Amino acid sequence: MTQTSRYAVFGHPISHSKSPRIHQLFAEQFGIALSYGTIDAAPDAFADAVRRFFHDDGGHAANVTLPHKAAAFALADERSQAAVRAGSANVLTRLDDGRLAAHNTDGAGLVRDLTERHGVDLRDRDMLLLGAGGAARGVAWSFLDAGVASLTIVNRTAATADALADAIGEPARVRTRYWEDLGGIGSFDLIVNATSAGVLQQSLGLPMALVGARAVCYDMAYGTAAIPFLSWAEAAGAYRAYDGLGMLVETAADAFELWHGRRPETEPVYRALR
Ligand code: ATR
Repeated sequence: MTQTSRYAVFGHPISHSKSPRIHQLFAEQFGIALSYGTIDAAPDAFADAVRRFFHDDGGHAANVTLPHKAAAFALADERSQAAVRAGSANVLTRLDDGRLAAHNTDGAGLVRDLTERHGVDLRDRDMLLLGAGGAARGVAWSFLDAGVASLTIVNRTAATADALADAIGEPARVRTRYWEDLGGIGSFDLIVNATSAGVLQQSLGLPMALVGARAVCYDMAYGTAAIPFLSWAEAAGAYRAYDGLGMLVETAADAFELWHGRRPETEPVYRALR
């Protein structure tokens, strides 16, 4: 069969997505011909758009980004453990029998970006996670799996942080604190920004005392959305500060391997995008 398999990324907005380029660059590494487009769907049109793509247009698999990750998880027929923990999915794959499988590669991709690309040893770190929304939920478990000593979750809305800590269910390592108390909770050696403040062009107003002497700071956003947090981290004396571009490439690599059975080289793609 010579027909090109169809892939896409669903989002809203989606026109600036880097996913088509990333997947094309991966495919070129193996000489695979790929059709990978963008599908813009408003939230109330998402389920129909998914049905059309997979059932009418012969779609093979798709990435899902904001604001559809929870909806993608909900409409799937099967869910991986990573997706169940996160309660959201960034990957939808059509199984041979036509049912849809949901998976979430965000946590694994972020941890791999930090440990393998940036050479950060996560074991024994005292970690501060800023935010408790979909992005935070998607990655929190992976840091515990990677061996952080403690995880402090702080969210503007305290109840959401408590709900995430309860869902994780590891009180010996996971605690929550109030956003208002950020100035008095000590310093951390790993700080991950999982809030959407940068995207919304809002200031987090973070105290510099949060940043420990050897602190690694990471913004899950990239580009201009990450600038305020990274500037704060550098001003506060962080040892290293990274944006989430590497995470994006790593999460895409996991999806690519799931779909094509081959592991792409991420470093040349990361450099091309950077
Ligand atoms: P995402 O999928 O990007 O995580 P989300 O689920 O809407 O999107 O979550 C956004 C996160 O950013 C939340 O933790 C939100 O805090 P609230 O739960 O209090 O809304 C956080 N956030 C957004 N803007 C913020 C700001 N200006 N200051 C602090 N936190 C902010």
